[in-house]
Amino acid sequence: MTTSSAPGKVYLFGEHAVVYGEPAVPCAIQRRARVTVAARSDERVRVEAQELTLDGFAVTWGGDADDRPDVDVPAALVDAAMGYVEGAIEQAREAAGEPGAGFDVTIESEIPLGAGLGSSAAVVVAAIDAATRELGAPIEPEAVADRAYRVEHDVQDGEASRADTFCSAVGGAVRVQGEDCRRLGDVPNLPFVVGYDGGSGDTGALVAGVRARKEAYDFAADTIAAIGDVVRRGEQALEGGDVEEVGRLMDFNHGLLSALGVSARSLDAMVWAARDADALGAKLTGAGGGGCVVALDPTEQSRTALKYTPGCEDAFRAELDTEGVRVEE
Ligand code: PMV
Repeated sequence: MTTSSAPGKVYLFGEHAVVYGEPAVPCAIQRRARVTVAARSDERVRVEAQELTLDGFAVTWGGDADDRPDVDVPAALVDAAMGYVEGAIEQAREAAGEPGAGFDVTIESEIPLGAGLGSSAAVVVAAIDAATRELGAPIEPEAVADRAYRVEHDVQDGEASRADTFCSAVGGAVRVQGEDCRRLGDVPNLPFVVGYDGGSGDTGALVAGVRARKEAYDFAADTIAAIGDVVRRGEQALEGGDVEEVGRLMDFNHGLLSALGVSARSLDAMVWAARDADALGAKLTGAGGGGCVVALDPTEQSRTALKYTPGCEDAFRAELDTEGVRVEE
């Protein structure tokens, strides 16, 4: 039996624009998905996920990977969750050269699903790491990231960037632009606060919406390019240790994402609650539409303000996690 864990992430800058070749800077946070795998004597895969949160519903299911769980949530979300696990096992089998390996898989996650915190990437990264180790063929975090990306790419119909999977595999603050992924060196302490509205956005539909606006309006294409400029300035601010400037640029990034139509009333309400509480900056994180915002605030004020904001279901501090995927003892 082997257990591996991998962190979720927030986007400091650059979601959506990264789909069109602009850089993005996601940061791993200390909220993890843990995947335990045990080799079976046959070729079957049995998956159990406890309190997997799908679109605000907590569900418990177990069964063969080809036997869909009986839960009252949209079939597309359940299919996607199952697709990630099946894809991860397939990648591990291929990496280890054992196409017929069977597993019992147990998933526990502290990361809400579909809320912009990289839950699926963390599950896929941890599952590939655990399954390859269980087969006696461990691979480097960069190779785990690459295989996890292929899974996300397949499940999300080719619309995934490498940001989530690379960040979850290597940890810390990373820079992703197309195929070029690297970890950023010395970054200052980033006092993240996350606000969660209890919901989730439909990443595929949101990405398609941005694509349609980009094609219809030159100024939408300019907005995407402007996000790229914000990210480049953000990198400079990070390298210079200027956390206040990072915050100002996060505010700008949120405004541009809002112009592209991917914010939501609940996300805007949480962003403004954090700003009113003197956060250094606040923005949505991930695809948008619902889910999470991330604010920068070294004090407790933003978290307290978020807790009392109508529509905010949970508010928590999320420290930068400098560690990526790891095996658990
Ligand atoms: O909501 P998330 O964490 O899946 O992030 C989506 C980020 C996008 O840039 C919109 C898409 C992508 O794969 O980069």
